[in-house]
Amino acid sequence: MSAFTVTIKETAGLVEHSLDGFLPQSDGPLGRVVDAMRWGALDGGKRLRPFLAIAAADMLGAPRTRSIRVGCAVEMIHCYSLIHDDLPAMDDSDLRRGRPSVHKKFDDATAILAGDALLTQAFEILAEPETHPDGNVRCTVALELARASGKIGMVGGQMIDIYAEQKEFDLAGVTQLQRLKTGALIRFSAVGGGLIGEGDDAQIAALAAYAEDLGLAFQIVDDILDATADAETLGKPAGQDAEMDKATFIKLLGMEGAKSKAAELVERCKAHLDPFGEAAAPLKGAADFVFERKN
Ligand code: IPE
Ligand code: IPE
Ligand code: MG
Ligand code: MG
Ligand code: MG
Repeated sequence: MSAFTVTIKETAGLVEHSLDGFLPQSDGPLGRVVDAMRWGALDGGKRLRPFLAIAAADMLGAPRTRSIRVGCAVEMIHCYSLIHDDLPAMDDSDLRRGRPSVHKKFDDATAILAGDALLTQAFEILAEPETHPDGNVRCTVALELARASGKIGMVGGQMIDIYAEQKEFDLAGVTQLQRLKTGALIRFSAVGGGLIGEGDDAQIAALAAYAEDLGLAFQIVDDILDATADAETLGKPAGQDAEMDKATFIKLLGMEGAKSKAAELVERCKAHLDPFGEAAAPLKGAADFVFERKN
């Protein structure tokens, strides 16, 4: 196991523990939505977004008690996006993180509600005073997450993704789609960590530039894996993009073109962190991890 894999697994353990604490089991009819939230959010995933938030905050010397909360908030939004993405009305995927998707384990209505509840709880966590003693900082972080999640972020990207099926999209179109669908939450992760660490404008801008390139590389690799890996390795269905004729970089540039585009973005994203010196090593490691990952 590489040193980076050990590091990301270590923070994933902390995040898992906190998420478990945020989602205590409950009796009665309410218990069902909590069980579905736990099914969708616990015990799985690479936890890349919380890692980025925590590593960015670490780099600026922020206490982990604060940055883990930002990491949990973005992971809750991410898990909600996956629960809804898998629904029959969207990608209709029965498998997620190596087990039945939430709507398969429960039902469509419960999956919709579990996603809704994770979305709202993310903002509850950010608003609580434990996230940062200064209400202005909490509000700025919440504002950034709202923008990254909604119509000018992930939701907007998901809409374009559906609209783009079976259509010809040019490079600018696919880039915009990917930046919103996946890039926005990845950008928030690094920027949210930077904001909780009270970084100055130049530091936040460098984190944003890093994460914008990284987010695009991340989705290109996701598309490459969809086309080349099997469901068992991925823990989710393979080959769906071609089946649904999704707009991807592979469709546009071919497999080799997509690979070199991802490699180029990964190198470029690391360069944005040079001003931080040695302290940026974990975030630079995350960029290599994104490129080399197998699921
Ligand atoms: C999958 O994200 C969905 C995309 C945005 C491409 P991840 O590959 O980060 O999924 P998990 O969290 O590790 O399961
Ligand atoms: C979904 O992209 C990104 C989200 C906002 C959830 P994909 O549809 O490619 O994600 P996977 O491949 O199902 O994880
Ligand atoms: Mg999708
Ligand atoms: Mg999908
Ligand atoms: Mg995919």
